[in-house]
Amino acid sequence: MEEQFWNRRFFILITGASRGFGRTLAHIFSSKVSKDSQIIILGRNKEKLESVKEEIKNDNSNISVNTVNIDLAKPNAAEFQKILEPFKETNYDVYILINNVGSVGDISKDASSFNDNEELTKYYELNVNSPIVMTSVFLKLF
Ligand SMILES: NC(=O)c1ccc[n+]([C@@H]2O[C@H](COP(=O)([O-])OP(=O)(O)OC[C@H]3O[C@@H](n4cnc5c(N)ncnc54)[C@H](OP(=O)(O)O)[C@@H]3O)[C@@H](O)[C@H]2O)c1
Repeated sequence: MEEQFWNRRFFILITGASRGFGRTLAHIFSSKVSKDSQIIILGRNKEKLESVKEEIKNDNSNISVNTVNIDLAKPNAAEFQKILEPFKETNYDVYILINNVGSVGDISKDASSFNDNEELTKYYELNVNSPIVMTSVFLKLF
């Protein structure tokens, strides 16, 4: 049953995959999906994304991996669409969006110091607006 599930061509987009949970998820999926699957990993740090790409190509050399360095704290539907548009006409068996990205910033700060609205808005954009906009674009295209 499990083998049947994974033995399909997956299209997977993971936000925040240059480290942490996102990177681990990229490893787990890449080692399980069938050949000719596609994984797209997003984050700001280009070097770290490239090194995750190398790692997951080592897990499974028969899949395609694309990296996109982007600041998701500035969600922009047109920009997200540009990333996904080239895959619009594809015919994968399963399409998965993992909205992993998120941050609460410097957790050493205590609650009494959270008073900078500009900073709070940035986290709101990253944690709330960005996944909503990405989901909208993904659903429209796939
Ligand atoms: N760790 C936990 O204990 C825990 C518990 C519950 C929930 N979570 C949630 O799980 C998710 C991942 O957590 P984590 O601990 O793996 O986080 P992490 O280690 O801090 O990694 C965050 C990832 O998001 C990317 N990222 C951060 N800000 C970004 C931005 N503005 N634009 C684009 N990418 C950005 C980072 O890459 P770049 O720096 O390269 O951009 C990195 O790849 C988060 O949503 C978090 O809230 C974590």
